[in-house]
Amino acid sequence: MKLLTAIIRPNILQEVREPLLAIGVCGLTVTEARGYGRQQGHTELYRGAEYRVSFVPKIKLEIALDDALLDQAVEVISGVAKTGRFGDGKLFIAELDQVLRLRTGESGVFAL
Ligand SMILES: Nc1ncnc2c1ncn2[C@@H]1O[C@H](COP(=O)(O)OP(=O)(O)OP(=O)(O)O)[C@@H](O)[C@H]1O
Ligand SMILES: [Mg+2]
Repeated sequence: MKLLTAIIRPNILQEVREPLLAIGVCGLTVTEARGYGRQQGHTELYRGAEYRVSFVPKIKLEIALDDALLDQAVEVISGVAKTGRFGDGKLFIAELDQVLRLRTGESGVFAL
């Protein structure tokens, strides 16, 4: 299993939801986040406003998934999120050791 953490522009969220569901992603967590990447000290545009030397609003998506779904999930998110402009976001991919589904006691991929 993998834990895919995606930092994306807030307006992308609705566009990735359905295609992720379609490929079989059965759960995800959304957090309103703020941050910056390499342009710290420079400006980044968001909804017409300039954010200078500060934290730009982003959405953090956390998706625990079977290894077999990782590539497709990465393709879906990159396909929608990539505009080619600064601030498109980033994907972090990590091994996920264990998942426990509290209601049923299932574990591993059965708990996803
Ligand atoms: N190294 C990092 N560690 C943790 N979060 C990061 C890191 N880099 C970027 N982020 C998060 O991702 C968001 C988007 O980053 P961003 O796309 O601007 O990265 P970048 O490296 O500056 O790329 P680009 O040059 O395309 O803008 C940031 O606002 C921050 O929340
Ligand atoms: Mg940047």
